[in-house]
Amino acid sequence: MANAPAIVVENLTKIYRSHVKKEGLWNSLKSLIHREYRTHVAVDHVSFQIAQGELIGILGANGAGKTTLLKMLSGILYPTGGSAQVLGYIPWERSNEFKRRISLVMGQRNQLWWDLPAADSFLLNKEIYQIPDRDYHQRLTTLATMLDVAHKLHVQVRRLSLGERMKCELIGALLHNPRVLFLDEPTLGLDVVSQQTVRDFIKRYNRETGTTIILTSHYMEDIEQLCERVLVLDQGTIAFDGSLEQLIHSYVQEKIIRITFRTTVERSELSRYGIVEEWQPRQTVLRVPRSDVASITSQLLLEFPVIDLTVEEVPIESIIRKIFA
Ligand SMILES: Nc1ncnc2c1ncn2[C@@H]1O[C@H](COP(=O)(O)OP(=O)(O)OP(=O)(O)O)[C@@H](O)[C@H]1O
Ligand SMILES: [Mg+2]
Repeated sequence: MANAPAIVVENLTKIYRSHVKKEGLWNSLKSLIHREYRTHVAVDHVSFQIAQGELIGILGANGAGKTTLLKMLSGILYPTGGSAQVLGYIPWERSNEFKRRISLVMGQRNQLWWDLPAADSFLLNKEIYQIPDRDYHQRLTTLATMLDVAHKLHVQVRRLSLGERMKCELIGALLHNPRVLFLDEPTLGLDVVSQQTVRDFIKRYNRETGTTIILTSHYMEDIEQLCERVLVLDQGTIAFDGSLEQLIHSYVQEKIIRITFRTTVERSELSRYGIVEEWQPRQTVLRVPRSDVASITSQLLLEFPVIDLTVEEVPIESIIRKIFA
């Protein structure tokens, strides 16, 4: 079924239940008989579908439920309620066919053996996933070349830089050619150059192989460069599902006008047109309502000696801060 969605999620819910430990001997004794629990709704009736080949980004503040959602979809966490199908499989049943078709990479957690070179961990994966010799060597060469770590595969993983380690993690996760790839903060803590390499790789890999990719990130650049579709999680619920462009339109009612003048224009003269974000005698940045951009621009051009004028979107970082505020 080529057109069936890769992922279908309905009312998926995860409530964590943890034991409350109180201080003091008496409370410890009491808790032997009567345990108190605290519950926390981490994912709350979430529903969405993801098409095959999509590259989708999940955004959300700390604790929004992103990792919990990915853990359920990759089958390492059992949900409290609702349903999910990934490639037609119920993830938490953990069937071997399912495991062979997906992969999960967590930025904060190592899946390669720390004391061994990555190449040895890869061989183990080859056995676990029963990857035929030829496919294995072909894929390993291709992936290592794309990620530029071919010369690092025989170095103990513990001696690799964070960036090199993440690249090896990606190779390890992709050798068995999964159809769905879950990436939880794949660029977390990497230096700028490695971040860009990983980003470029994810984009190219998705385009060339049609693998469905779901990634979470705190870095707006990841989302901006990679994802056409964005899910915003807010305290376990979906606050937004759509394109980045729509996200900007629905949250930002303003635009930025940047102007250079031939002669000095006073700040007070400009504040009639919008909020003056920056001011210098011959340069200013105004924030104006999105719906009035055209009329304000033409008034400014008529009334002031304008040399240059550009209209820009509000920076994406500030939009995200606003959403989570
Ligand atoms: N094992 C657990 N027991 C109890 N509560 C948990 C457990 N794991 C996570 N939580 C809580 O569930 C909520 C969601 O956690 P989750 O890790 O999914 O968030 P996240 O969006 O991935 O956050 P971050 O951006 O910090 O990675 C948080 O409030 C967290 O404290
Ligand atoms: Mg997380």
